[in-house]
Amino acid sequence: MTIVSPSLLAADFLHLDRDIDMINRSEADWLHLDVMDGVFVPNISFGFPVLEAVASKCQKPLDVHFMIVHPEQYILQTARLGAMMMNVHAEACTHLHRTVQEIHQAGMKAGVTLNPSTPVSVLQDIICDVDMVLLMSVNPGFGGQKFIENTIQKVKRLRQLIIESGSKALIEVDGGVQGSTAPRLVEAGCDVLVSGSYVFKAPDPEKVIKELKAL
Ligand code: DX5
Ligand code: ZN
Repeated sequence: MTIVSPSLLAADFLHLDRDIDMINRSEADWLHLDVMDGVFVPNISFGFPVLEAVASKCQKPLDVHFMIVHPEQYILQTARLGAMMMNVHAEACTHLHRTVQEIHQAGMKAGVTLNPSTPVSVLQDIICDVDMVLLMSVNPGFGGQKFIENTIQKVKRLRQLIIESGSKALIEVDGGVQGSTAPRLVEAGCDVLVSGSYVFKAPDPEKVIKELKAL
């Protein structure tokens, strides 16, 4: 069974209460939360006041994706939310190893995220220390973008690195995950699917989540 982490970015922000109820009822494994700062990415999404409100209602583990500069400054605040996974971008962390250690010390799982242009090889010396690698299959900042095809090959290269190193890291893919891309990602070795618009804009989001899980 594939792990499914719907992205709240595509929810109806006027009815977050209703959309989180749907997630709680659904077979979703986690809830993916996208934090953007307008500096690391050319968009701003939401910050801690919204994360706290979501955390107080959501019964699923929180998979928080920071698209911000200096994510290390927010490790303790994220841990206080009760987040399960803190994902930071390799491109945003000068001392990535230290940041991963600090995320672990704060009691969370550590995910390292790569932009589409960042090669899997940058993970070679940290792959055994991380719980997950989040591969971006679009340039981060916006929902509803077109899937970058090269991600399929990238998932295969990452799977190879994980096998060769004996790492236990999960592979998560984020961006343009929908009916035609999801099965190919799973076949290539992806463990966790993030999906925003495909889930939340569907007439029956719970059914879509169920279908993704069954891949
Ligand atoms: C994009 C975010 C994604 C986004 C995915 O920067 O990291 O999580 O919500 O949206 P879809 O699934 O619509 O491409
Ligand atoms: Zn994301």
